[in-house]
Amino acid sequence: SIGPRGTLNIANKVIQPDGFSRSAVLAGGSYPGPLIKGKTGDRFQINVVNELADTSMPVDTSIHWHGLFVKGHNWADGPAMVTQCPIVPGHSFLYGFEVPDQAGTFWYHSHLGTQYCDGLRGPFVVYSKNDPHKRLYDVDDESTVLTVGDWYHAPSLSLAGVPHPDSTLFNGLGRSLNGPASPLYVMNVVKGKRYRIRLINTSCDSNYQFSIDGHTFTVIEADGENTQPLQVDQVQIFAGQRYSLVLNANQAVGNYWIRANPNSGDPGFANQMNSAILRYRGARNVDPRTPEKNATNPLREYNLRPRIKEPAPGKPFPGGADHNINLNFAFDPATALFTANDYTFVPPTVPVLLQILSGTHDAHDLAPAGSIYDIKLGDVVEVTMPALVFAGPHPMHLHGHSFAVVRSAGSSTYNYENPVRRDVVSIGDDPTDNVTIRFVADNAGPWFLHCHIDWHLDLGFAVVFAEGVNQTAVANPVPEAWNDLCPIYNSSNPSK
Ligand code: C2O
Repeated sequence: SIGPRGTLNIANKVIQPDGFSRSAVLAGGSYPGPLIKGKTGDRFQINVVNELADTSMPVDTSIHWHGLFVKGHNWADGPAMVTQCPIVPGHSFLYGFEVPDQAGTFWYHSHLGTQYCDGLRGPFVVYSKNDPHKRLYDVDDESTVLTVGDWYHAPSLSLAGVPHPDSTLFNGLGRSLNGPASPLYVMNVVKGKRYRIRLINTSCDSNYQFSIDGHTFTVIEADGENTQPLQVDQVQIFAGQRYSLVLNANQAVGNYWIRANPNSGDPGFANQMNSAILRYRGARNVDPRTPEKNATNPLREYNLRPRIKEPAPGKPFPGGADHNINLNFAFDPATALFTANDYTFVPPTVPVLLQILSGTHDAHDLAPAGSIYDIKLGDVVEVTMPALVFAGPHPMHLHGHSFAVVRSAGSSTYNYENPVRRDVVSIGDDPTDNVTIRFVADNAGPWFLHCHIDWHLDLGFAVVFAEGVNQTAVANPVPEAWNDLCPIYNSSNPSK
């Protein structure tokens, strides 16, 4: 793992996480990348060094710290052509940001094209200063980070449209349907102890039904926000989301299947794919034989409550915010691209942040036209997102904030009193779903809101909330190195 001051070398390497060899784009030489960790109050300085050379994949890069608000450091948020120009090969860029008031489970990934599908993804944990989790939730061990994500045997650039994942990897290990019996990830536990599992869905597409045979768990965190403990036996986790689950190792000493059944890719557990192993100390080193059981108490997002009760900002009824935005998402068969209120997000040639810092302060003049929403600093913003059934359910992620989910998928009622807060929400796949979120615009800068199915983002499924355009420059002083990124990028990519 690396601390708040560290270096991430981004390089190509041939790996075979599921027994198939392919060239990948890796951070720190491994898949997933090294755990970045620190604690609340830390100032992070991560130097990203681009050593990419394999031209079958993008060789430029840009890294996003998913879930961290990076307030005052919008320039370090990472989405290419929204907040920065990419880092070209042979160059490095020092990302700097503070984490004054967050603790929990986050992750980092490339935010350039579909590069994270080629491997550039890793976990990021912020521990709270006084470790209240251990006291609050009384766990014996909080060291477990479990990334689960889809994997593809071919470089993302060679894959057209929305490709079929080849396997599911738990911490970088898994099997495909007809692939070799490659090793599975093993989580070792001691009977009688309680473990905080930080589950992170790093997928480019798949959501999973996650469960552990013979065990239930207690949800205590969703996307970096603490929740009241909620007992469940299965969790559906969407791309980009995180949960902390307390697992009580209170069953007979033995081996148990950990399962993550995907909605895309090959479902089920043939060839022991989509699985990992929970192994008690004292159990034999063999595969589990535990049967798959139907969930009886799956997590419903609308049952989650914030640990500290906090009503949604704004007035307690639909449309009761200062700024109410309805986003109608669609797929346009004529262009084969996604739209939000009729506009496809096309990356601009000048990053949105640079456009703002260069003096463009009217959202109508900001490119890409039609995709930028002007948000007044301090406003309470409500966003309604009617379900897009096509290729759904779609997990929508907002940068720079967490939001209150006042109406979840699968629910027809609104909760303004104590809604869960998070940063990725599924907008559902039932035509009656109308997921509604609220947040306070307290973070000047352009922030991406997009579908976290990376293939869909690449097909234009995104908008940008330009928050406090007039305050953006003062609120986000940029370092010299940031100013240098675009000239270097443009001279390395003359076609741009
Ligand atoms: Cu995790 Cu804009 O992404």
